[in-house]
Amino acid sequence: MSDAITAEGLVKRYGEVTALNGLSFSVPRGTVLALLGPNGAGKTTTVRILTTLLRPDGGRATVAGCDVVAEARRLRSYIGLSGQYAAVDEHLTGAENLEMIGRLYHLGARRSRARARELLERFDLTGAADRPVRGYSGGMRRRIDLAGALVANPPVLFLDEPTTGLDPRARAALWDTISELVAGGSTLLLTTQYMEEADRLADQIMVVDHGRAIARGTADELKDQVGGNRIELSVTDAAELEVARDALAWVAVGAMRTVPESLQITVPVTDGPESLRHALGRLADAGVRVRDAGLRRPTLDDVYLTLTGHRASGTDEQVREAIR
Ligand SMILES: Nc1ncnc2c1ncn2[C@@H]1O[C@H](COP(=O)(O)OP(=O)(O)OP(=O)(O)O)[C@@H](O)[C@H]1O
Ligand SMILES: [Mg+2]
Repeated sequence: MSDAITAEGLVKRYGEVTALNGLSFSVPRGTVLALLGPNGAGKTTTVRILTTLLRPDGGRATVAGCDVVAEARRLRSYIGLSGQYAAVDEHLTGAENLEMIGRLYHLGARRSRARARELLERFDLTGAADRPVRGYSGGMRRRIDLAGALVANPPVLFLDEPTTGLDPRARAALWDTISELVAGGSTLLLTTQYMEEADRLADQIMVVDHGRAIARGTADELKDQVGGNRIELSVTDAAELEVARDALAWVAVGAMRTVPESLQITVPVTDGPESLRHALGRLADAGVRVRDAGLRRPTLDDVYLTLTGHRASGTDEQVREAIR
């Protein structure tokens, strides 16, 4: 068995709402898949089905070789889950919460205690270890919940928006922890709304919208699918933005993006330096004074925007191209 997670045609409906509309994917052992998508895309629903908290209405899925419906009980012994909404006991202390999970996984009292201390340290919670969780801040709750998912060293981990609500330092620390786990052979499915997180952690990224996969690949492949380069430039005067856009329409191969506050325009182009030269020539002809201009590859942000942002305005072609 080389895939730690498989999903085939998963369907989930809530009354009128189709949360998952035939989602298929697999996650090879020891790799990281990031589900990236806007609010309501179906990310949490996917995680809940794979962790046996919810039954699918159609399709099938396995985790660590166990069917999510028929072998739910056995499956649970192989996974760790940290949810979008922290599932900790408010009345227990941080240490007690982790020890309790250890006991549930039959680690024994001594090992549970040692493991709890180790994780509290790793998540920078040692100072709060003996305080009830009800007095924890939002970020501390996130971290204790994440620590809980790691207590039993599960081979397959599900982290639903693990760093939402964490400050930059805590986020960076968590990324390091996750990288270590994966280096140790764990398989991870994570959901996120942060491009940077997917870029940094995931081997494969699947962009989900309306319960369907609209693109998948490595961060680099997705950037290639969106294609080309981006010219990023700023003008010196707000009054020139419109003129500049008109002049650049000849160079752009897709929708331009304008940020009026910073007088900035982003222009998708097919090739590199040639397009930049062309664009600057057009702007000079139109009498636009350019403050600075540069060329860059698309970011995952561009990918996301192209795929989920402007579906009504002519990017359907690109979306269709992106589906494999
Ligand atoms: N218990 C429920 N009852 C009814 N509808 C639900 C329920 N849970 C989810 N949905 C709907 O299913 C769709 C997918 O929801 P889901 O929570 O999986 O999205 P998500 O990608 O996790 O979003 P977010 O980024 O906001 O966490 C949404 O339209 C949501 O409103
Ligand atoms: Mg969610």
